[in-house]
Amino acid sequence: MKSILHIDCSPRAESHSRQLSSAIVEKLLEVAPCVTICRRDLGAAPLPHATPGYATTLSTAATLAAPLKGSLDLSETLIREVEAADAIVIGTPMHNLTVPSVLKAWIDQILRAGRTFKSTPNGKVGKLDDRPVFIGIASGGVFTGDRANQPDFLTPYLAAVLGSIGLKTLQFLPVQATAFLEGDTATAARAKALVAIDLTVMGRVPCPATVEGE
Ligand SMILES: Cc1cc2nc3c(=O)[nH]c(=O)nc-3n(C[C@H](O)[C@H](O)[C@H](O)COP(=O)(O)O)c2cc1C
Repeated sequence: MKSILHIDCSPRAESHSRQLSSAIVEKLLEVAPCVTICRRDLGAAPLPHATPGYATTLSTAATLAAPLKGSLDLSETLIREVEAADAIVIGTPMHNLTVPSVLKAWIDQILRAGRTFKSTPNGKVGKLDDRPVFIGIASGGVFTGDRANQPDFLTPYLAAVLGSIGLKTLQFLPVQATAFLEGDTATAARAKALVAIDLTVMGRVPCPATVEGE
């Protein structure tokens, strides 16, 4: 285990999903203390929506084979961040029953035919190696469990898009009803969400400095 890609999506600096994703990263550091963290803060620095050049390159097999100059640069940078990560942590709010648009803009760059998935008559087949993805979700209301009072287009959507590129080991860790949380109750809600985390999917790797013989 060498690196974690840590993504945040909230536009708010002091946000529930940011605090949750930081707590998830801290948990991962308990089992993999020497990893490097790659940050991609989509909330603070949103990506552009798909540009005309990118959309044109993605529009046919022929244009994909001969991409417009520079049109895939951003996509390539973001895909390489995913490929370099042994684990991915995403902190995201629920916005209108699904992912916020900044996370959708990132998804639009990392799902790319011929690069991260293969198009087949039976649908997309992922080309990336699987790795754990921990997704901390903050929602003002309740979308899962007995008290759910709204549909959930966030977790099935992320499972479908990330699964289509090969990322299938997903853990969703929600903090719900944030509209009613503050101070200690928010801390307790985060702690409760973290109890469900399964760290066995992370390899236990010693720090390079502690490797025998070095
Ligand atoms: C544009 C927008 C849409 C939202 N839509 C929903 C929603 O559909 N369901 C919900 O439970 N909360 C919704 N919320 C509330 C947020 O999910 C909640 O405030 C959450 O804590 C935000 O995450 P953050 O604290 O990390 O910023 C919405 C908030 C905003 C700003």
